Amino acid sequence: MIFDVIVVGGGVAGLMAAIEAKSDTTLKVAVVTKGNLFKSNSSLASGGINGVLDKNDKEGISKHIDDTLKGSYGLADKKAVTYMCEQAPLIISKLADYGVNFDKDENGNIAQRSFGGGSSKRTCYVGDKTGSAITQALIKKAKTVGVEFLVNHFVMNITKIDNKVSGIVVLRRLDSSVMVYPAKSVVLAGGGYAGLYRGFSTNAQDYTGDMLSIALRAGLALKDMEFVQFHPTGFIKTSYLVSEAARGEGGYLINSEGERFVDELDTRDVVSRAISKQINDGKEVFIDLRHLTPEHIESKLPSLQKAALMQAGVDITSELLPIKPVAHYTMGGIEANMTRTTIKGLFVCGECAVNGVHGANRLGGNSLLEGAVFGELAGRNALKYSERKAFLPIDYNIVVKDQQKVDYIFDQDTTKNFNSMRISVGKTMFELAGISRSKQKLFKALDYLKYLRRESGTLHCIDKGRNNNVELVSILELQNALEVAQTVVISARKRKESRGAHHRDDYPDTNDEYKHSILVNELKRGFYKVWLQKNNILGYLRRLVANNN
Ligand code: FUM
Repeated sequence: MIFDVIVVGGGVAGLMAAIEAKSDTTLKVAVVTKGNLFKSNSSLASGGINGVLDKNDKEGISKHIDDTLKGSYGLADKKAVTYMCEQAPLIISKLADYGVNFDKDENGNIAQRSFGGGSSKRTCYVGDKTGSAITQALIKKAKTVGVEFLVNHFVMNITKIDNKVSGIVVLRRLDSSVMVYPAKSVVLAGGGYAGLYRGFSTNAQDYTGDMLSIALRAGLALKDMEFVQFHPTGFIKTSYLVSEAARGEGGYLINSEGERFVDELDTRDVVSRAISKQINDGKEVFIDLRHLTPEHIESKLPSLQKAALMQAGVDITSELLPIKPVAHYTMGGIEANMTRTTIKGLFVCGECAVNGVHGANRLGGNSLLEGAVFGELAGRNALKYSERKAFLPIDYNIVVKDQQKVDYIFDQDTTKNFNSMRISVGKTMFELAGISRSKQKLFKALDYLKYLRRESGTLHCIDKGRNNNVELVSILELQNALEVAQTVVISARKRKESRGAHHRDDYPDTNDEYKHSILVNELKRGFYKVWLQKNNILGYLRRLVANNN
């Protein structure tokens, strides 16, 4: 099968990209996902999508821009933020046209709630299921316009020739065969890496940065990898997300002494650290919704109400719900300039990309917006590119290597358990590269990750059946995850200051020498170059190359 445009990832960014690329009815456009289409991370951004509703409300848009820049601690790109906030009214109206039934106020207008770090109410929502409501509407729209869906395809690599993309190599999970799909342009939109913090994350356990690992192997740089956002409120046992909507609707945070200790609607980095301090001081922390009426809870927080009862045995209308901070979103990802990368024909958007709108910390409600706005732009860019170009030859060296990798995992025996390694990665990342970091912790983390990376290269399937082999994909994911985890740790080590979501106990202050992004690329397997992105000639050249894409 060949496609004009292939989009990897079935969340909001990927779906928007595919719909936009398919607006030309003759083109063949596919969305490729490694698992179930309805299981993307976008559906977890339950509380809402930010945006001023009136495109002529210059003051409102300017406040949105200011809040986003402030929340980024100086590391966002003003041009990208301005683009996103100016597009917000248009994208929200487009989503409504595609069938997203946003909650309305008493006048029948789209209702908006408060979210952390916002100077006014600008978060549009569908109860506390916004992400999944948007995803469902986009899937329907994509199917209507003729986008093809290839689910259960694990993307192993992109192929390129003379720095121009020519297709993707996938593992078809159905029968474990390695296949190539040629494409004129490719959009990577396959999610972030907060799932590395397994056991301490709202993300599904397979959200461990496959796209980033593919990008590293293709020679691209990763940016801002040290910035991992801890959402202040997750269930203690299951890490289920207690949406920021709960605080936006008026919920309080209290400790076991019944005291409120933080402004609940401060940015997530501030609130998470305040909670973490309470917990380290031996106190428990709860979200208190008892003062809201049961009707209010039922209409605005129905999913939370159900989940609290089922997973924690708590009736939130009358009881306190214990919570802890959990890794939820990753600001770092593939370096991009308005979705363009330095590989021609390759575009990136959504959580796997750094298009420059979040910097050191993302505002709640800006992820769905970023996914939708930059997804749309990536789709448009990919379409334009594919219209001008022919199919290019496939580099079969990559395909052969991927085939050999799969055969090697099947061919030998092992007693080693990939699952216990995955759990160790989660624990290591949380304890040593989590909410508070230090030189010592990061060195320990790096040593251990290097060890696990060597071990992961010796893993083999115990079950040798080739149909839907879960072990095979888990091993490939783990190998990617360890590569990405290493880049988080080396970036965190390089940033000798505290800024946004990155807090160093040994460098507790912000230091403007570091008011730059950190970039990493892989020189050869396991060896990285890591540097501060100053506005120098190299940075200028990188932007120039990406702009010419
Ligand atoms: O809390 C939430 O509902 C999450 C929203 C987001 O990550 O933007």
